[in-house]
Amino acid sequence: MKSIQEMEKQYIINTYNRQPDQTPCLVKGEGSYAWDDSGKKYLDFLGGLAVNAVGHCHPAVVGAIREQAGRLIHTSNLYYGGPQAELAMALVENSMPGGKVFFANSGAEANEAAIKLARKNEPGRFKIITAEASFHGRTLATVAATGQPKYHKPFAPVVEGFAYATFNDLDSFEKLIDEQTAAIMIEPIQGEGGVYAADQTFIEGLRSLCDREGILLIFDEVQCGMGRTGKLWAFENYGVIPDLLTAAKGLGGGLPIGVMIASEPYTAVLQPGDHASTFGGNPVVCSAALAVLNIILGEGFLAEVAEKGVYFKQELKRFLSSYPVLSSEYRGIGLICALGLKKAEAKKIQGKCTSEGLLINAINDHTLRFLPPLTISKSELKNGLAIIDQIMKKI
Ligand SMILES: Cc1ncc(COP(=O)(O)O)c(C=O)c1O
Repeated sequence: MKSIQEMEKQYIINTYNRQPDQTPCLVKGEGSYAWDDSGKKYLDFLGGLAVNAVGHCHPAVVGAIREQAGRLIHTSNLYYGGPQAELAMALVENSMPGGKVFFANSGAEANEAAIKLARKNEPGRFKIITAEASFHGRTLATVAATGQPKYHKPFAPVVEGFAYATFNDLDSFEKLIDEQTAAIMIEPIQGEGGVYAADQTFIEGLRSLCDREGILLIFDEVQCGMGRTGKLWAFENYGVIPDLLTAAKGLGGGLPIGVMIASEPYTAVLQPGDHASTFGGNPVVCSAALAVLNIILGEGFLAEVAEKGVYFKQELKRFLSSYPVLSSEYRGIGLICALGLKKAEAKKIQGKCTSEGLLINAINDHTLRFLPPLTISKSELKNGLAIIDQIMKKI
């Protein structure tokens, strides 16, 4: 009988670079922990890349999935469906009252919907300005939207109509606007780019710029939304409301979902036939998402996330003073954070953490990223930090 590693090697296209001797095979999860097939337990500071917002197998999410799966799993979007309407109401009322949603299955698809809406909004205006070092997905349009040439090159020519400005530099965005510009799209906190938060003046400036030029402001909160900053949406930290908002990852409690929320003036741009998704708004997925949203919006939950974020920041900043040769800066808000390293040791630290039973992520050689479940306890954060501390000491 072939091992899982052998089967993967033979039958799965190698886009993820899993290493048989270093990458665990995870088979079980509960709260902030996951277990591999040898029974080894891992504390999870990665949260399935910001997906497991309420931890692994939260009973309310599992219950919602079980209940809906036993009743009705799929209908197609030719019919009305209860869970998607309820989820849409909860999302709109808690983000952009008066708005409406389009459901998809991933972050990239949510962004595709936003791009299509922005392009259709005003004939002749099709260009979208995004930020350098941004990340918006892996479909051809969202690869083009992503301001990182390394993702474009192998697939050239990419979809036209995207231009790239410098994050946190308002002038560079303004300079790129012309009569064909439809929108500006940014992540309020750049995730894959290294966890860089937008400045207050930059975000406010973008809003004014878009209003003045009559173009749409799109926030991609696929990674930084869903409570990660201690508010439901990262934009609430800035008091600046976008015209279109996209979310995914943490919303589905581990099931695939993407959503584009359009503010009131743009709710009728997309008409029947303009856009669709076979699975978008699936009843099981929407039931899970409703359960996640109810937990996150529960009393005191977001305040606690913010508090844990402050604690985590303090402790990560301590590494800066304890290991000045190694670490250079803390970045982030709440529980989306990163430690910038002076030395190219991030991948090594990630590997050693895995061996010690802690899942973290090295975005590149110089950046450690932390996206723990929002339900993680302070003592679990402390335990994980102690593991990193020990590893850094040795390096
Ligand atoms: C900000 C942002 N937008 C979009 C995406 C793409 O999401 P998905 O992988 O669900 O398509 C990601 C994924 O990491 C992301 O971080």
